[in-house]
Amino acid sequence: MYICICNAITDRQIKEAVANGATTLGDLQFELGVATGCGRCMESAMELLPTPAFECSLHATEISRSRRQAANDMQLETPAVAAAY
Ligand code: FES
Repeated sequence: MYICICNAITDRQIKEAVANGATTLGDLQFELGVATGCGRCMESAMELLPTPAFECSLHATEISRSRRQAANDMQLETPAVAAAY
């Protein structure tokens, strides 16, 4: 079953990465690219990890915060593009 539509990553690929030592969402992002697009698959991907949910949610919050900051930076750098939307 596809977990990450943006990057065409399946649950099988995630389980294989976990079996090979992936323990965090960051590991999955680095190895597979899961949750590096729209981010909608983040929770589903984290459910397949062996690490405690608290630790994963802290990491996800960190990623979410950095994405928001990057989006804000882009808006500040390209006001003409932002105005077009
Ligand atoms: S569905 Fe995974 S990043 Fe969009």
